[in-house]
Amino acid sequence: MEDLAPRPGDLEPIEQASRDELAALQLQRLRWSLNHAYENSPFYSARFDAAGVRSEHLTRLEDLAKFPFTVKTDLRDNYPFGMFAVSRENIVRLHSYSGTTCKPTVVGYTQRDISNWADLVARSIRASGGRRGDIVHIAYGYGLFTGGLGAHYGAERLGCTVVPVSGGMTERQVRLIVDLQPRIIMVPPSYMLSILDEFRRQGVDPRASSLAVGIFGAEPWTNAMRTEIELAFDMHAVDIYGLSEIMGPGVANECVETKDGLHIWEDHFYPEIIDPATGRVLPDGERGELVFTTLTKEGLPMIRYRTRDLTRLLPGTARTMRRMEKITGRSDDMMILRGVNVFPTQIEEQVLKVKGLAPHFEIELTREGRLDEMIVRVEAAPGASAREAAARELAHHVKSVVGVSARVLICEPGALPRSEGKARRVIDKRPGG
Ligand code: DLL
Repeated sequence: MEDLAPRPGDLEPIEQASRDELAALQLQRLRWSLNHAYENSPFYSARFDAAGVRSEHLTRLEDLAKFPFTVKTDLRDNYPFGMFAVSRENIVRLHSYSGTTCKPTVVGYTQRDISNWADLVARSIRASGGRRGDIVHIAYGYGLFTGGLGAHYGAERLGCTVVPVSGGMTERQVRLIVDLQPRIIMVPPSYMLSILDEFRRQGVDPRASSLAVGIFGAEPWTNAMRTEIELAFDMHAVDIYGLSEIMGPGVANECVETKDGLHIWEDHFYPEIIDPATGRVLPDGERGELVFTTLTKEGLPMIRYRTRDLTRLLPGTARTMRRMEKITGRSDDMMILRGVNVFPTQIEEQVLKVKGLAPHFEIELTREGRLDEMIVRVEAAPGASAREAAARELAHHVKSVVGVSARVLICEPGALPRSEGKARRVIDKRPGG
């Protein structure tokens, strides 16, 4: 793997600012953001009035805890434009995601929001080891999903040559990588595994590819998966995080030289960790639900938005800005089996430990009588024998490390459905599930 570290002049001044400088900027921007939301969004005026709070009540960053939370249903209830803080004519872009059963949500950006977003994705690509002049293959979906266009504008802003492939047509993904020789790929990690299979199917050596860095996000993935991908492609695998409500990709990103969690771009987003049950703010280092307040967003400011993502805040290392630990999962993805909390990432870690298994798996939950059962379906690695032994080994790891009993079913290579975007790991067949 290439030895990557920032070169002189690579970092923006704010990435090297002291904690005090950063805190002063955050306080000033936070006051602006609270005031902007209150003055220009009827939703926030009503919320702040009901809670008896105004931007003047913020004298220290910690005072943010006095302000009410915003949640996903607020966006749904005010669909489509009810929470915007600028007139619709000043919104230059919309993104959206639609659940299949519930009302969709829409987010909107002013020209300046789009420009800030491009700057932050450019910063994220740079932190990952990308530089001006690189060819960047983007296989995040383009369209209403923020992944494709978010990555695209950032890569252009950095001065890269962008290949806007979007997701899908895996055979063509491999051909384009072979022909155009990108140095960087941006793609959901689960889809990178499909691309890896396709390399092998075509008889192309992934380790000989031009790829030096993969920037993976949009779904939880583990350090075990990082090792798997890094070894397969002989490249660096770096984590990028974001969510549409706050911006899209590029809210936080790992630095390639340390790969020790994601630096939150704190000059634009103020993070808090709360106890999801009580809403109490927890000190740095404690695990809980991640909450973000936007500091510069004009179109759709978000005040104390509850992400449902579970992590903890850690001090900065490669940069002064704080880090968040790799996300364990979303509170909505947590399965409770006989009283034990289980996340799909914990199963992923165990699958990757067992020789003879491929990293393609899904979890099915059923209910027998009053007891929940977990079935883990996982593909055998191509050419692997001793499937019974692999199944037993996985069941043993899941029981001893995760603490739950699972029935492991090994399937043929290629038998499980592949995702081209976010992987769907859990199929809940329990009544009401
Ligand atoms: O997934 C934005 C994105 C695109 C991020 C491409 C990174 C790369 P949404 O569709 O709104 O936006 O989904 C946001 O996805 O709350 C997390 O639960 C999850 N997520 C995103 N990045 C990561 C990550 C995009 N690196 C939701 N690790 C978030 C774990 C992630 N989960």
